[in-house]
This record gives sequence, C-alpha cells and structure tokens, in this order.
Amino acid sequence: MDVEALKKEAGEAACAYVRSGMKVGLGTGSTVKYTILELGRRVREEGLDIVGVPTSIATKTLAVEVGIPLADLDDLPGLDVVIDGTDEFDPSFQLIKGGGAALLREKVVAQASKRMVVVADDRKRVDVLGAFPLPIEITPFSHNTTRRSIESVLECKVVMREDSGVLLQTDNGNLIADAHTGASITDPEATETALLALAGVVQVGLFNNMCDVVVLASSSGVKTLEKKV
Ligand code: 5RP
Repeated sequence: MDVEALKKEAGEAACAYVRSGMKVGLGTGSTVKYTILELGRRVREEGLDIVGVPTSIATKTLAVEVGIPLADLDDLPGLDVVIDGTDEFDPSFQLIKGGGAALLREKVVAQASKRMVVVADDRKRVDVLGAFPLPIEITPFSHNTTRRSIESVLECKVVMREDSGVLLQTDNGNLIADAHTGASITDPEATETALLALAGVVQVGLFNNMCDVVVLASSSGVKTLEKKV
C-alpha cells in the first residue's frame, strides 16, 4: 500500500472521534488533511454539526473550502477534541511535531482540547524520539544566537529552516530551527524544559503528555492505539 493511501485511511478513520455538537481542533499536515476533507463531506452531506478551530492558515483555507464552520479559540470555553498529525510518536505517546511549521498554534489548540487524537502511518512510530529533526520555533531577533544556544543545550547541529532559499517564516512571524539530535531524546520533558529556558525560544515541537489516541494506518489495516494509563 502506498503512503498516501495509508494517510487517507488514518485521516478518515479518525472522524469516528467526532460527533455532532463538538468543538474540534483541526490540525495541520498531509495526513489530517484527509480528516478535514471527510469532516467537510459529513457537514455538507450528512448534517454533521461541528465548529472547527484551525491550527494554521493553510488548514483554515482548507476548512473554509470544504464547508466546516469555524470559530476563534478565544470565543470558545475549550475544545472537545483536536485531531492532528505527527512526525514521530514513542511508546509513551510523546510526540515530535512541527514538520509543517505549525507547532505553536498546534500546541495552543492541543492544550485547549479535552482529548488529542493523532493520525499517522506506521513510519511515524519510533522507540526513541529524534531521528526526525526536532522543530523549534524561535524569534527572528538574533536568531543565530538562539540557534547556537540550542546547539550548546542539545549538543547537536541546528539548522535554520528555509523555503526556496530564504528563511521560512511561521504563521506567527517567527522562524524554525531544526535540531538534528538523532534518535536520542530519551527524556522529552527535560529536553523541552531546557529549551524553553532560552529567551529566544518561543515553543518546542515536543508534545509531551498530550496525545491520548493514535489512529495508525499500516499495510495490515488501521489500528486505534489508546494511551496506557
Ligand atoms: C505540522 C505538523 C504535522 O502534523 C506533522 O508534520 C505531520 O505531518 P504529515 O501528516 O504531513 O506527515 O506537526 O506542524
């Protein structure tokens, strides 16, 4: 089965976590895109009554296109569920996110949600986080100083993310530094705390203790993995 088919299976299966009346965080990326397309179809064709909160400008554009009614997080008391993709998840359901540069809004929305459902294919499952370079959102001001400080803290190469030869700017006007730690993040909570202590760091792409469910697609079908409590 090709990867795109797996993404579609996982993305669509996660719609099982959404019912009429819910306020739903809409994640960012090429897997959760299939969730958003299917939710839009159910809104248009089946009368599914939901309000969505997008985690990026790209997701907002897609949600509007497919007809999902949207609201500002500030105008809601909280969200029932957020469905989002991931770049890696470990056996404790700690995540690396931010491959699509949307980690700050994704984390704000995840923290406002009662439940986080992650959609993934089995390439995202790892024993130890870090083979995927860890995305870190940093301020444009003195970004090379912050980048070097991150290198000292993590003892690895840190590369500023570019898009067509220029520094990539996030939806929040910040930059992304990708830390090439290798698969060595054995204590993601300590790593997040150490990075957040740097003044130029806005947010870290480690999503610790947030994910409750992984909807995982592989060539043997879709499995729902629930976090062990
Ligand atoms: C965006 C993210 C994405 O959810 C993550 O990169 C996974 O994306 P995809 O489903 O395209 O692999 O964190 O900031």
